[in-house]
Amino acid sequence: MLFAMKKTTSEYLERLNTRVDDDALFALRTLAEKEGVPLIAAESLRFLKQIVRMIDAERVLEIGTAIGYTSLALALDAPGLHVVTIERNETMARLSRAHFAEYDVEGRITLVEGDALSIDPARIEGVFDLMFIDGAKAQSGRFLKRFEPQLRRGGVVVIDNVLFRELIGTRTASRHLNQLLRKIDTFNRELIDDPAYDTVVHPIGDGLSVAIKKR
Ligand SMILES: C[S@@+](CC[C@H](N)C(=O)[O-])C[C@H]1O[C@@H](n2cnc3c(N)ncnc32)[C@H](O)[C@@H]1O
Repeated sequence: MLFAMKKTTSEYLERLNTRVDDDALFALRTLAEKEGVPLIAAESLRFLKQIVRMIDAERVLEIGTAIGYTSLALALDAPGLHVVTIERNETMARLSRAHFAEYDVEGRITLVEGDALSIDPARIEGVFDLMFIDGAKAQSGRFLKRFEPQLRRGGVVVIDNVLFRELIGTRTASRHLNQLLRKIDTFNRELIDDPAYDTVVHPIGDGLSVAIKKR
């Protein structure tokens, strides 16, 4: 009974919140679903856009561009925003570049091609108000360490997939998957305990950690 109620509530919210969605990128989401490219969940994107508005962000750093969906969604939603986004996969980088050219974002998205963990830091210039970490899930902690010097004090870090398909905290039949879940769990705990951040984990989409940099 309780489960049925919960489901109804989430369905209700999903229907209610789609009214605030911008469907300008519907074609891109459809393409990603067809090609099996993982994208941010719709409710997570809504939340991310709301954070951008709340902190009046001017510069966002995204790790993991894929086909450019989130970068475009943020840039289209906030006319003054500049997004720097890093992608290591050549095909994804080519696709995202083509998608950026199709939309009216006036050079407000900079694609940096390369591995975020080994890229020359001089290629990622400036200070950011928000960092969206959405690359390889076992590496989220390393991405944060690499780029946190460029996050302003009071800036926000959002990390996607921190609950990993509701599997976090469980053991599966796959050793490889268990290893990944352990790494995500370790990072979740480290970030919660890190005195340099105020962090809350939200059960939105696939799980979003939101951390505010204190110093
Ligand atoms: C979940 S997808 C990103 C989705 C995108 N943020 C969105 O919502 O539209 C993850 C992407 O991160 C990229 N990636 C993974 N590890 C990376 C790394 N070390 N450096 C740069 N890109 C990385 C993958 O190639 C993949 O395209």
